[in-house]
Amino acid sequence: MTAQIIDGKALAEELRQGFKARVEALTAKGHKPGLVVILVGADPASEVYVRNKVNGCLAIGMHSEKITYEASVDQATVLAKIAELNADPNIHGILVQLPLPKHFDEEAVLEAIAADKDVDGFHAENVGALAQGNPRFIPCTPYGVMKMFEKGNVDLTGKEAVVIGRSNIVGKPMALLLINAGATVTVCNSRTKDLKFHTSRADILVAAVGKPKFVTGDMVKPGAVVIDVGINRLPDGKLCGDVDYASCLETAGQITPVPGGVGPMTITMLLANTIEAAERKAAAA
Ligand code: GUN
Repeated sequence: MTAQIIDGKALAEELRQGFKARVEALTAKGHKPGLVVILVGADPASEVYVRNKVNGCLAIGMHSEKITYEASVDQATVLAKIAELNADPNIHGILVQLPLPKHFDEEAVLEAIAADKDVDGFHAENVGALAQGNPRFIPCTPYGVMKMFEKGNVDLTGKEAVVIGRSNIVGKPMALLLINAGATVTVCNSRTKDLKFHTSRADILVAAVGKPKFVTGDMVKPGAVVIDVGINRLPDGKLCGDVDYASCLETAGQITPVPGGVGPMTITMLLANTIEAAERKAAAA
């Protein structure tokens, strides 16, 4: 059997087209959705992500700007900028691109963002709301994965779901979303003993471990839905995921490619969160 490919690029495009009318309606009421992305340092991968985030906003009529700092900037300067943006009525979403340089206290920076502008969903208040099953902002990558399940009519209730990875950005919120959706969830990591024991039982397998081709076909339950969150650059310059696509394609029932799978959905859900933030602000005005 060859797996059905989940086309994240097409789904992302369909959703973004649908956002345009919401952006227009908000703009007409004087609440044009606005996102500021803060980038500290010049990590090439982060620069690409940030550019795609800003361009994704502009393409559907939103306001977006990038603020960049040298890697040596002190934390107080960034915190002062966040405070200014928190008070700016034209800005509905604030995102600080991670990772930050080592001299930063990442938690302090994320906590400084007003919870109602935290479109990444990384503020403790938003993490807590998600854990309680009443999310306000859902972190963009796992939110994109949930949209893929929804659009692909993947029923999660009672399913065995295995997440490989325990990061605050993907693994943990992904696990919470799957729990909230009624799945039976196991969270593994790269050091899990007998990982294959867990993965081979998974109806839903989400790989977010940051290791190229880590999940191979022999680890996958026949017919499973395999979601590859990884984006790794190989020595030859090509991109690959955390899933060995060629071998898993034969075993899985559905699978996401890299590129063109989860990646485009992440930015799409960032746009969704920013529009949502602007709609809440407009409703409260
Ligand atoms: N770095 C990698 N992924 C993300 C993300 O979703 N948000 C932020 N802010 N930084 C990231």
